[in-house]
Amino acid sequence: MSARVIAVVNQKGGAGKSTLSMLLAGALAEKGHRVLVADVDPQNTALRWATAGERFPAAVEDLSGEDAKLHKRLRKRLDDYDYIVIDSPPAAAAPVTASALRLAHLALVPVIPSPLDLWASLRIRDAIYAARAKNPLLAARLVVNQAQPNTVLAREVLAMLPEFGIPMLAAQLKQRTAYRQCAALGGTLSELGSRAAIASLELAALCREVESILAP
Ligand SMILES: Nc1ncnc2c1ncn2[C@@H]1O[C@H](COP(=O)(O)OP(=O)(O)O)[C@@H](O)[C@H]1O
Ligand SMILES: [Mg+2]
Repeated sequence: MSARVIAVVNQKGGAGKSTLSMLLAGALAEKGHRVLVADVDPQNTALRWATAGERFPAAVEDLSGEDAKLHKRLRKRLDDYDYIVIDSPPAAAAPVTASALRLAHLALVPVIPSPLDLWASLRIRDAIYAARAKNPLLAARLVVNQAQPNTVLAREVLAMLPEFGIPMLAAQLKQRTAYRQCAALGGTLSELGSRAAIASLELAALCREVESILAP
């Protein structure tokens, strides 16, 4: 089967694109899928994450030199993988982001539940809508990241999300040190063992939801 392509996108730096890309890629690979992370951000966070540890189970490639032809280049690799996860730079209007959205089956937009972050994400929403001209089946989901559910502000922002124009993934990632440790150690969440038990359940639910959206 040809790879299902997930573009992790947002205009906002620090929203959690690289974290979501690498957690998801690691979890999908540990389920036995062949996974490629296309690291398109010149900051190369995904590549650093993968090389900080011993052996990351997904392939991670530096494609930060790519531009509007990214989709053509990755299209040639579709038969080699089950999932391709594109970790994007914080640039909604960049040609490489449009190219990623042209190939993707699913755009995931991590958002921190704060008004500033939500406003910044309006531009990526427009980029996703524009991409549907050439890629009409492109699905999209907001992914609430760094959630702190018990604050009034977070509740108010979460109440705004349904009006954003992109549906929300039911699964969310809370703010957890386990996710940062995982990046520091350069591995997958499961490698943290019992230290990351609750985070692992959270990530497994997210992974299942993404797989079901992408099921052919
Ligand atoms: N759910 C989370 N819990 C705790 N820290 C997080 C979480 N998501 C992201 N971070 C931290 O926030 C920072 C920005 O995340 P990153 O994935 O690099 O964002 P982006 O790729 O969108 O710039 C990093 O230091 C990362 O470790
Ligand atoms: Mg990043």
